[in-house]
Amino acid sequence: MTEVGQTSDSAAHPGVHRGPTAGGETQDEDPALNYVELRGVGKTFTHGRQSRQILDDVNFTVREGEFCAIVGASGCGKSSILRVIDGLLQPDTGSVRVNGRDITGPSEDIGLVFQQFNLLPWKTVQQNIMFGLDSLKLPKAVKRERCQHWMSVVGLVEWSGHYPHQLSGGMQQRVSLARTMAREPSLVLMDEPFGALDALTRRFLQQEVVRLWQEGKRTGILVTHDIEESLLLADRVFVMSANPGRIAATVEVPFTHPRDDALQATAEFSEMKEHIWHLLTTEISKTSSYVRTRSDMHAG
Ligand SMILES: Nc1ncnc2c1ncn2[C@@H]1O[C@H](COP(=O)(O)OP(=O)(O)O)[C@@H](O)[C@H]1O
Ligand SMILES: [Mg+2]
Repeated sequence: MTEVGQTSDSAAHPGVHRGPTAGGETQDEDPALNYVELRGVGKTFTHGRQSRQILDDVNFTVREGEFCAIVGASGCGKSSILRVIDGLLQPDTGSVRVNGRDITGPSEDIGLVFQQFNLLPWKTVQQNIMFGLDSLKLPKAVKRERCQHWMSVVGLVEWSGHYPHQLSGGMQQRVSLARTMAREPSLVLMDEPFGALDALTRRFLQQEVVRLWQEGKRTGILVTHDIEESLLLADRVFVMSANPGRIAATVEVPFTHPRDDALQATAEFSEMKEHIWHLLTTEISKTSSYVRTRSDMHAG
């Protein structure tokens, strides 16, 4: 895939493409190459007489079976992009297509996993997963089978009768993941799904997600403010600028799976991490005065 607007940056970092309307890519008619396709997406929110543009000319495509990450500072519009793709938020300008179809509202083909697990506290693990399947027109036996399968995939069969308050945060996120995956959506959107978890649990679940993607043909978009996470999981990383939110650069991740602790210790990994950090801070400093430090960046 070629991308437009490349600068000398691309020469220094062969996997990196950026430009003025960067992230812009040549149009390709093959739906498998443009499984998710955002063109010129813009969104402005208005409060009383004040309006604020949060997304401006957002362009990117994701291939079928690809796992991409969107990285950006808190408030730059990452969640809004996912909501636009999921049909929950209508953009003011531009178009969003998934698998060749215009997105005009929520679709059964698209699943969302949130940072807040959003489990129903009065339902057990099994009932929460079954609840996710409620709206699908499938025989009850098939739903039960899928529920059982996904409880086993995420290692929760023994906990099927437990309620959310009886589970750790990591287990609750596994239920949430299973609830979305059991619907077998062809596109899975994840909005900082590991943000609330401790480092060990986060790493474990990240590996689970990699495994799920290696097993089946699924397309995924992960939103995160954690650069390492994007490099551990994604095939490509879209780096966002803020105020208004744009795709400032697209980074190809050159590592094969498994991406383990040994990879994290390599110079190549550190270099990629520093490079994305540099892209983020350069873009942010052009457009914003409030994000200056790593701790600010990781604030939300
Ligand atoms: N429904 C809404 N109404 C008004 N402003 C919103 C709404 N949703 C998001 N915003 C604002 O848009 C900006 C981007 O939000 P969001 O997409 O949640 O960013 P991120 O996920 O990158 O933190 C934020 O400043 C947020 O306050
Ligand atoms: Mg968000």
